[in-house]
Amino acid sequence: MSTYHNDLILRAARGESTERTPVWLMRQAGRILPEYRAIRERLSGFKELVETPELAAEVTIQPVDILGVDAAIIFSDILVIPDAMGLTYEMIEKKGPFFPNTIRRRKDLEKIHVIDADELSYVYDAIRLTVKGLDGRVPLIGFAGAPFTILCYMVEGHGSKTFSLARKMLVQEPDLANALLDKITRSTIVYLRAQAEAGAAMLQIFDSWAGILSPDLFREFSLPYIEKICRAMPEGIPLTVFAKGANFSLMEMATLPCDTLGLDWNIPAKLAKQWAGPDKTLQGNLDPAVLYADGTEIVKRTKAMLDSFGSHRYIANLGHGVYPDTDPQAVKIFIETVKAYHHAEVY
Ligand code: CP3
Repeated sequence: MSTYHNDLILRAARGESTERTPVWLMRQAGRILPEYRAIRERLSGFKELVETPELAAEVTIQPVDILGVDAAIIFSDILVIPDAMGLTYEMIEKKGPFFPNTIRRRKDLEKIHVIDADELSYVYDAIRLTVKGLDGRVPLIGFAGAPFTILCYMVEGHGSKTFSLARKMLVQEPDLANALLDKITRSTIVYLRAQAEAGAAMLQIFDSWAGILSPDLFREFSLPYIEKICRAMPEGIPLTVFAKGANFSLMEMATLPCDTLGLDWNIPAKLAKQWAGPDKTLQGNLDPAVLYADGTEIVKRTKAMLDSFGSHRYIANLGHGVYPDTDPQAVKIFIETVKAYHHAEVY
């Protein structure tokens, strides 16, 4: 039973039939929209926006009003978890996140704690305000980073192409890595459950750096923690796992107790469907760079994507977050193409 005017995405996630394919974009709430930038410019920085529930709710709803997507995703960041655990981050303009303190050795674990359900209340307040503001138009997606991706930032202290310090910990001090992953996992479970409690109708786990791991290390240091989170989620809240770059593990991810698997653009739909099997919904996977093309090309490539995934158990999206310099008009063309499309088999 659903109280949404548009619950296409929930039905697609559960494997029910839908009149058309639902569509949303990762990073839809953000710099692509002038309306977002206008709010952001008035503030001291990114963190103020994340930590002010009224404003976070406003920018979360913007893409629903302006772009017509079938879901909202709460405006926040995966880095609020290390922040609440005791490692605060700064978001440096045009550079990205920076952690003045990091976890490099066993005694550093004393700096962090497993969060309680009353921490991160600014996120839960933002969720409650967003749900109120959406007024049942579309479901709201809550999210968190996967433990391995969070470990990358907590160990390295900033973004990196290789996260070699984080990977060094996995191979040199696996016990320390596991102790850290365990603390992150327990915090993430508290956090995602509280998001659902506050009104998030769907949840997504982002393992953005999964692709820097070998299949063996992914199996050892990422997958078991994602699985623990999946097992601890409340009933009836569809769950998506997006492990970017980890297509090599799709068959193993298909055994996770989740509903949807997110895909990047490096895997053909046919192979993904084969590897994920009939019991998972797939989400993705247009190359975000396609939105730099002209309208005709965007329509052509979006239709090709829709054809290749078919109409059942499918949610249209990009293969990663929309790039900040993308023209919102191009995003609209992508969304409209999905919405207007009728799969051949319905004729
Ligand atoms: O619309 C949405 O998808 C919701 C908002 C959202 C943000 N971050 C807002 C944001 C989501 C889902 C995230 C997740 C996130 N954050 C991930 C996982 C998804 C992915 O892209 O792989 C990661 C790895 C982060 C960490 C992070 N946050 C980085 C590396 C950066 C700097 C790089 C950049 O894009 O600028 C951020 C900042 C960030 N998070 C911005 C936004 C809108 C840009 C900052 C700004 O507006 O000033």
